[in-house]
Amino acid sequence: MTDAEGSRPLYGMFTDIPPHYDLINHLITWGMDKKWRKKAAQTCLSFRPRQILDLCCGTGDMAIEIAGLADYPVEIRGLDYSQPMLDIATAKAATSQDKNIIFVSGEAGKLPFPDEFFDCVSISFAFRNLTYKNPLAVRHLAEIIRVLKKGGHCVIAESSQPTNGLIRACYHFYMRQYAGRIGGWLSGNKAAYRYLGESAAGFYSPVELSKLLVKSGFQKTDYHPLFWGAAGIYSATK
Ligand SMILES: C[S@@+](CC[C@H](N)C(=O)[O-])C[C@H]1O[C@@H](n2cnc3c(N)ncnc32)[C@H](O)[C@@H]1O
Repeated sequence: MTDAEGSRPLYGMFTDIPPHYDLINHLITWGMDKKWRKKAAQTCLSFRPRQILDLCCGTGDMAIEIAGLADYPVEIRGLDYSQPMLDIATAKAATSQDKNIIFVSGEAGKLPFPDEFFDCVSISFAFRNLTYKNPLAVRHLAEIIRVLKKGGHCVIAESSQPTNGLIRACYHFYMRQYAGRIGGWLSGNKAAYRYLGESAAGFYSPVELSKLLVKSGFQKTDYHPLFWGAAGIYSATK
């Protein structure tokens, strides 16, 4: 059975790459991923949420960013299905000041939380994994809606599609040729970073992604492009 057909699409990839994950991210985005997460964390906190889920938290940077920026009490859960990612996240949070984060092992398609528990769900650079050619996409979106309170928000930082055709072509070339290759070379997992290049190039435009969110049950969506639209921050209200 291939990853895409399995009940845990991409799982093997995300248990293999964690040791190199942060470094490769910074190299591929020229360090901008840190700024983009910070911007997403600020967007999340602008809604003044108390209970926050950082879905697909990976090595924990987004959860730690939110905890560090919050100037009022928050409770943050970071969830991921890759134990190696969670181990790195836990070690980072232990050395930072942020004691109000609980990292949880779990599946985005079956979240271990009650209905309407969270004020905000943040997802940084994982919405593409949850939805792009993913047979479980509908289930993932339904789970996000289920655990959000009415009026709660989902904040997504993700790769996007530049609207300018020339910039878009350059971006696709960059993702496939540079990002895909350097990631594969540094991590030793060529398939994982070929997937990154291909999925980023084929991913939804801002209009398509906003439509997907509305179709899934969100009422209102907003989009803020980053770096000429190579990435973007979406917020959606339940
Ligand atoms: C590209 S990484 C993003 C990590 C982190 N949010 C960041 O900003 O760097 C995607 C993460 O999503 C996790 N993931 C993918 N599919 C998942 C699923 N169905 N359930 C739980 N975690 C999942 C992977 O293990 C990985 O840590």
